[in-house]
Amino acid sequence: MVSITEILKGRHTGKEVELRGWIYRTRSVGGKAFVVVRDATGTVQVAISRDAVPAEAFAAAQKALIESAIVVHGKVVEDKRAPGGFEIRADDFKVVHFAEKFPIQEDLSEEFLLDVRHLWVRSQRMTTTFRIRHTTFGAVHEYFRDQGFWEVHPPMITPAGSEGGSTLFELEYFGRKAHLTQSWQLYAEALVLAMEKIYYVGPSFRAEKSRTTRHLTEYWHAEMEQAWAGMDDVIRHAEGVISYACQRVAEERADDVVAMGRTPEFLKAVKPPFERMTYDEALKALEKKGMEIEWGKDLRTLEERALTEGKSKPVIVTHYPRVTQAFYKARDPKHPDLVLAFDVIGGDGVGEIVGGSERETDLETIRKGLKEQGEDPKAYDWYLDSRRYGSVQHAGFGMGMERLIQWICKLEHIRDAVPFPRTPSRFAP
Ligand code: 4AD
Ligand code: MG
Repeated sequence: MVSITEILKGRHTGKEVELRGWIYRTRSVGGKAFVVVRDATGTVQVAISRDAVPAEAFAAAQKALIESAIVVHGKVVEDKRAPGGFEIRADDFKVVHFAEKFPIQEDLSEEFLLDVRHLWVRSQRMTTTFRIRHTTFGAVHEYFRDQGFWEVHPPMITPAGSEGGSTLFELEYFGRKAHLTQSWQLYAEALVLAMEKIYYVGPSFRAEKSRTTRHLTEYWHAEMEQAWAGMDDVIRHAEGVISYACQRVAEERADDVVAMGRTPEFLKAVKPPFERMTYDEALKALEKKGMEIEWGKDLRTLEERALTEGKSKPVIVTHYPRVTQAFYKARDPKHPDLVLAFDVIGGDGVGEIVGGSERETDLETIRKGLKEQGEDPKAYDWYLDSRRYGSVQHAGFGMGMERLIQWICKLEHIRDAVPFPRTPSRFAP
């Protein structure tokens, strides 16, 4: 039993192997059938000669349609004419399951491919992204654990949100109103006073009505929170974790990276420090590009695109105006109109990959902020206990895993960074 990636690395050349997989493509010429087989790791060509296999095996190879499940036995040879440079010369070929005519042929619309997503996940483009996603998730866990962070888990069903009511999913909870989590924010600030350095990777939900190429309604969120730390400390971790994930993907998935249109060298160059600018400096830079932004307005996709234009590493923007930001972000002691918040912005239109801040520690300031945002401080009373019992300086951030993967894989649309995307217009299959 071997995997295709091992064959393509030359580990089995000249040897007899057994390979299990599915038919990716097939054609017959004269007394030969060429079947391209896929498994979880890649594709390889199998050559089946009429006179080298039992008669029923040859008939099966000729008859089987794409996505039939097969087991092939044969010898691995290096052959420059074969795609990938290797070929299996079969001495036996069994069809485990003859597939019906596969509904996905060439030139199908995006909508159709989303309808048959459960089958489209078998495509090379999807499986390549899944492998990169696997490595990226592993890298995020490795990074935080190596840096001494504890993995702790918040609830998904929550009484109140932290990132604004407009994107909060409502849930009927035995006759009461509950919500799906937007972020572990409130729980992180309770847990950080217990465990000091904490992280978590799990789903977040946003009732985001806008249809864009970078918003999902369900996404995976890597979040960290650190006690005795300020904005600069956690910015270093944001750079650190992005860089580490890029290094791991470049090392472990070099071929997959190339298949997605990036190079391992591009990812290897993603090393700290990233370029930094304040919000005010960002507005000046945009003005130079002919983009006039009113002070206090959030940066939109097109502005984030302009700021990262021609840059191969993400760019960090700090010190945002307080008016655009959630109630828990710390005021800048030097400029009360600003908060100690930052975004890490990726190029190629991906935009904000990370959003984070130092947290406000003053109870009254948070209460005021909640009221200003139309929230009832009473609903947050349990959270405010984090400012009543041993409050210390702390900071943290959240990273959209699909945004990071979208950027690493150079995907046009965020939905392809996840197997079964959830968007405003669909939640099936
Ligand atoms: O900037 P956001 O809203 O920040 C928070 O939720 C903080 N409470 C995080 C924290 O400090 N612990 O979200 C964080 C990140 C964004 O930078 C973005 O990458 C991602 O989550 N994100 C989305 N990804 C996909 N689809 C959406 N609808 C997203 N909304 C946010
Ligand atoms: Mg944000």
